[in-house]
Amino acid sequence: MRWKEQLLRLTPYQPGRSIDAVKKQFNLEKIVKLASNENPFGCSTGVITALQTNPSSLAIYPDGYATHLREKLAGFLGINEEELILGNGSDNLIQIISRSLLHPNASTIMATPSFSQYKHNAIIEGAVIKELALINGEHDLDEMLAAIDEQTNVIWVCSPNNPTGTYIPENKLIPFLEKVPPHILVVLDEAYYEYVVAEDYYDSINLTRKYENLIVLRTFSKIYGMAGLRVGYGVANRTIIKALEPAREPFNVNSLGQLAAIAAINDQEFVEVCKEKNRQGLTQFYDFCEQNQLDYYPSQTNFILIDFKIDGDKVFQYLLEKGFIVRSGKALGFPTAVRVTVGSFEENVGVLQALSDFLKEN
Ligand SMILES: Cc1ncc(COP(=O)(O)O)c(C=O)c1O
Repeated sequence: MRWKEQLLRLTPYQPGRSIDAVKKQFNLEKIVKLASNENPFGCSTGVITALQTNPSSLAIYPDGYATHLREKLAGFLGINEEELILGNGSDNLIQIISRSLLHPNASTIMATPSFSQYKHNAIIEGAVIKELALINGEHDLDEMLAAIDEQTNVIWVCSPNNPTGTYIPENKLIPFLEKVPPHILVVLDEAYYEYVVAEDYYDSINLTRKYENLIVLRTFSKIYGMAGLRVGYGVANRTIIKALEPAREPFNVNSLGQLAAIAAINDQEFVEVCKEKNRQGLTQFYDFCEQNQLDYYPSQTNFILIDFKIDGDKVFQYLLEKGFIVRSGKALGFPTAVRVTVGSFEENVGVLQALSDFLKEN
């Protein structure tokens, strides 16, 4: 078969190791998964109740327009319903944007290391990819601007950035947006938005009003604890949404996901509690790093990238055998680091104890 040549160069997304696989391999009873930046506190009880009590016929296609969820989200964000696009996770929105704007005669700009799916989708579309190295874990916005050429169609900005957890302050983002030519789409991926506490963070939804080439991506997979239900959304002006909609699969957000997301929005107290516990959890990690003189990036997310100055796979493997699944920095562009999702207080104590043991033994 005559596959797209670029597909032969790609490997499928490597997910964090599954709990069952690790249990079996190391004959462990308990596994703590801190690999995929999921919410250790699950989701709101309101979500569970909604799923249990609302009859949703599985034989019937979902509402392709996600009417009720759209209404709810628009009200919650203070925007018009036409300024929203729903996705089967924000991954799906990255795919829709790539499909709509990238092709072999287009170029696209992104930071590196950053979230892998920008590059992955750009490769599939055959676009020219320009990756600009992070500086101290942060996007080099000046270099990203300098990389713009005649063919540039999309610039990806991940804030807070995965895998560093760093964010772009308002006083750096605005001058950048001012300089991007209006025909280039800026994608601001805010998968971890709800975890941000930095006071100089910008109001991105408002920015979509001012910058007509900006789309903001968010998700119910992280603080809302619904990664398994796959719901994400994009906010932009109507013209962008209208252009993207034909590239969206008609039934991309499933019925249960729509139902659950409405219930999730209704429970902002849950979000606040998770945000607070996450801050406390991050402090546990910061204290550990300070005590052991390990470099890390202060995080605005629910994960932390810690540099152990040795092969990240070695740390990963040690933790795996102790029942903690994390991500080795090796696959993420930081070969001597590991990325750990902030867990519950007890989970954090456990993984930090294992890391202390590792440091003693090495
Ligand atoms: C920066 C970033 N964007 C997007 C996603 C995709 O999230 P989802 O497809 O679950 O909404 C992730 C998931 O880890 C992420 O870290």
